[in-house]
Amino acid sequence: MGDGIHIPLESLQNGGNSPRAVSKPAQSETPGASQPRSAQESVAQHGTFFLETFGCQMNEHDSEKVAGVLLARGYRQVETPEAASLVLYNTCSIREKAAQKLFSRLGVYRDTLGKADGQPQKIGVLGCVAQQEGQAIFSRAPWVSLVCGSASYRNLPQLLARLESGEERVTGLDNDTDETFETELTRRDNPWRAYITIIEGCDKSCAYCVVPFTRGPERSRDSALVLAELRGLAERGYSEVQFLGQTVNSYADPSPRKMRFSELLVEAGQVPGIRRVRFTTSHPRDFTPDIVEAIDAHAAICNHVHLPVQSGSSRVLRAMQRTYSREEYLEKIALIRGAKRKVAVTTDIIVGFPGETEEDFQQTLGLLEEVKYEGVFSFKYSPRPNTPAASMPDAIPEEEKSRRLATLLEKQRAIQTVALGKLQNDMVEVHVDGKAKKENHWYGHSSCNRVVNFSSSDGGILGRYVPVRISGCTPNSLLGEHAAAL
Ligand code: 5AD
Ligand code: SF4
Repeated sequence: MGDGIHIPLESLQNGGNSPRAVSKPAQSETPGASQPRSAQESVAQHGTFFLETFGCQMNEHDSEKVAGVLLARGYRQVETPEAASLVLYNTCSIREKAAQKLFSRLGVYRDTLGKADGQPQKIGVLGCVAQQEGQAIFSRAPWVSLVCGSASYRNLPQLLARLESGEERVTGLDNDTDETFETELTRRDNPWRAYITIIEGCDKSCAYCVVPFTRGPERSRDSALVLAELRGLAERGYSEVQFLGQTVNSYADPSPRKMRFSELLVEAGQVPGIRRVRFTTSHPRDFTPDIVEAIDAHAAICNHVHLPVQSGSSRVLRAMQRTYSREEYLEKIALIRGAKRKVAVTTDIIVGFPGETEEDFQQTLGLLEEVKYEGVFSFKYSPRPNTPAASMPDAIPEEEKSRRLATLLEKQRAIQTVALGKLQNDMVEVHVDGKAKKENHWYGHSSCNRVVNFSSSDGGILGRYVPVRISGCTPNSLLGEHAAAL
């Protein structure tokens, strides 16, 4: 075996939260179609929108759904904020730096708010910063018209209607809900790989984390709805699905069927046309043996588990309120490493949590050595409003956090270099994402989420699954050649 994992070293420095503009021309649920028929036929033209997304995959997918709501109302998506009558930012507040990005974007409009597409331009703030800052956004940037957190997206059509009727300030800041964000239309960015949110919000209370405040309580979607959405996607040509949730494996089917998370994975893998089922992010406490059994028994369930540990020190884990010790976490790793298929494991680590000693940090380095993760996303601790950790004593100085981050990165890079070197001549199946600039070169992902760059003279492989023989590696990806068969 030996298929690989995306090595996310490049995203470690910026916290893995680089902004991605969701600014491609509109693409409806139907790959290839540009505008939903219902929108064309029955809805008045309301103007144009530009939507930029910061943060995690949950946000990316929320943006796809928000775009769907706007298209269904007759809005048209444009590629620049200047061309849009409605400029939307879907924001992230997981670390302070991410939150600051919004305010630097908003600053641009201080003096320039004007007309676009014949209409007065309006600015909206969505997502986690919206929920966290609420009305305060209007004081800081009075030219903003809409502030809406993710738990209120289900009310977006009504909020938009109020905005369109000329209301100056519209808010959706409710986060005490048991409802999920359902929309008939989702404007998907990728024609083969689709996200499906199966659980929203978070009921854990990690001491450093804003998510329970910004995304509200945990709400799982009915398994029948999830599977119906997936079947619809498969019929439209999607072959890979990624189930999303802050704690995806805490999924609790609200329907009488009470399907377990692992059963949902198995059913998803059996949907005709679906070749790959991914899921992220898993919480160690709810990571149970049946998930590994499902991966072992069903090739369609990807052999990759993202299992954030956050720290290798039980003392720090307790202070973080992570609900497991180092030893208990390692038992979960043993489960995964004991699988018959080789399953890639990636993780998240926070360095410089208040009170983290050199000894605690050394335990984290020791854990990297012990687990030999296929990829690590690491972050400097960033105090967040309302969280218990924000008022904890013994804050670690910024320079020391940076030193620990650099040490950790170096260690992980060395571990990955050795691991990647061993994959020479292995065969992997690559789902082809795109064509590289270099002639006859392509890139894609393996089942366990490694980026693979490879050569092929076959010009028609985009979106297909092809066998690739590994011939080398870079620090972050595998290199190879299109082969005849696996
Ligand atoms: N500071 C630094 N990193 C954080 N994360 C969450 N909250 C914080 C914070 N306050 C990291 C965790 C989580 C990932 C998505 O972001 O590692 O798993
Ligand atoms: Fe935040 Fe912890 Fe919930 Fe993850 S499990 S979203 S880190 S509170």
